[in-house]
Amino acid sequence: MIGPLNHVGIAVPNIEKAIAFYRDVLGATSITEPKVLAPQGVTYAFVDLPSGQVELIEPYGDTSPILKFLAKNPKGGQHHICFEVDDIHNAKALMEKRGMRVLGEPRIGAHGTLVVFLHPGDAGGVLIELMESHKNDAAQ
Ligand code: CO
Repeated sequence: MIGPLNHVGIAVPNIEKAIAFYRDVLGATSITEPKVLAPQGVTYAFVDLPSGQVELIEPYGDTSPILKFLAKNPKGGQHHICFEVDDIHNAKALMEKRGMRVLGEPRIGAHGTLVVFLHPGDAGGVLIELMESHKNDAAQ
């Protein structure tokens, strides 16, 4: 069911410092400007790589789920991985049928398409994000 690996999510305490690290130390040449996704409590930026992306996520607001993660991992760390799926509602139903706990209803993610998260307790300790692929609009 899962398609391409879209990105790896990295929680960071300071997104500007993280961007500087990926740019100046690792030598990444394409990094998006940080943007706020208020409903998910994050400020995010994408590091573009030939094989996919790294998503840098900094807490936004007092109730950000990233705050808890950073309390346990003050330097930041790997937070989730994201796989693409064709249809988020079908994927959610299938995952539930297979006994996975799906965290919440599909909602708009950082790429502007619908996403859901799977409970890491059912997924080998990994928080998995499923993201609906961008629809092919090549017909235009
Ligand atoms: Co993500």
